[in-house]
Amino acid sequence: MTTNASNIATPIIEARALTKRFGGERQMFARTPTVHAVNEVSFAVQTGETFAIVGESGCGKSTLGRLLLRLIDATQGSVFYQGEDITRWQGAKLRRLRREMQIIFQDPFASLNPGMTVGQIIGEPVAFHGLACNASERRDRVAQLLTKVGLQPAYAERYPHEFSGGQRQRIGIARALAGEPKLIVGDEPVSALDVSVQAQVINLLESLKAELGLTLIMVAHDLAVIRHMSDRVAVMYLGEIVELAQVDELFDAPLHPYTQALLRAIPANSPPERRTKPALQGDLPSPTAPPPGCRFHTRCPHAKPRCSQERPLAETLPGGRQVACHFWREVQNAGGGAPLVASVSAKLNERLAIYREKQAALMADAQAGATR
Ligand SMILES: Nc1ncnc2c1ncn2[C@@H]1O[C@H](COP(=O)(O)OP(=O)(O)OP(=O)(O)O)[C@@H](O)[C@H]1O
Ligand code: SF4
Ligand SMILES: [Mg+2]
Repeated sequence: MTTNASNIATPIIEARALTKRFGGERQMFARTPTVHAVNEVSFAVQTGETFAIVGESGCGKSTLGRLLLRLIDATQGSVFYQGEDITRWQGAKLRRLRREMQIIFQDPFASLNPGMTVGQIIGEPVAFHGLACNASERRDRVAQLLTKVGLQPAYAERYPHEFSGGQRQRIGIARALAGEPKLIVGDEPVSALDVSVQAQVINLLESLKAELGLTLIMVAHDLAVIRHMSDRVAVMYLGEIVELAQVDELFDAPLHPYTQALLRAIPANSPPERRTKPALQGDLPSPTAPPPGCRFHTRCPHAKPRCSQERPLAETLPGGRQVACHFWREVQNAGGGAPLVASVSAKLNERLAIYREKQAALMADAQAGATR
């Protein structure tokens, strides 16, 4: 589905100038350093969208995802869910939110309690949200959820260590679906898996999304996953969104110098440790001392004196695309925004081909099943 930011109903979720700082607590004679993890981030996600948040390690993606789900509290700013300000909700209202918004974590090994059976893991939220009247209904619901994610109902009796990484991530997805959520944040849900298993899990998420009418927010490093799945993409650098665009616009003609650098460094068809590293000089500055003005100015090949003095505000272009750079027009005219398709294509296309092949196989299976 393609959703244009201008064809708007009430967004399912919206961040308004959302800010999160960690630390800064007073100790004996000093304060702990303040980590500026997320700084005045604003965007809105429409129902049914797949919205991606991408950026280097430590740029604040997970913190932003957790802020949206109210798993952590904002330092400043607000979160709106279906038009209501949920920033300070507590008690019963917060419990309702917990049911409607779920998270799938990166590490399918760490995120499942090893001492519980799969049935207990998935059955717990079913019981917590009052979705089964008795043990037998709960068992039935667990069986349905396991089937929905492509696992056998009999697996309910087993423990997490008896499963592969891909199967565990399916169990994590079944657990997330147990409360019948409307919104799911996937925090790097496939980056710990190998490529062909990634493709299966991604396709499972996409078909569940279509079947259940879910909205997905995908936090990711991996540009192939983003390109394959998302409708729109927010690019983060040091806690701020520097560009937000429809996925094709972003990949075909990135406007922000950081997005351009990120796309020039497409990940290899490789294990997670060889992650996307932008093709940039210099180290990522510490989030305890973000550079003044444009946070990217210490590494930007187009930086000018104004960049270190004045923070660029996000400019909204026709169609809803946003870019936060004083000089994006000049950068684009200098050839910086030219399509990166050629340089991106080889490795990215290799990955996309795997995802699409698996998707086609799934669809063929589904059609064969329907005509049997
Ligand atoms: N609970 C916390 N206490 C202190 N600092 C934190 C906490 N959680 C995150 N941070 C810091 O906030 C910054 C953003 O972290 P975050 O985990 O959101 O980044 P990320 O983009 O998800 O990174 P990765 O891609 O490695 O998962 C980092 O500098 C991180 O060390
Ligand atoms: S504002 Fe300046 S430093 Fe920041 S991205 Fe634009 S040109 Fe680069
Ligand atoms: Mg993270």
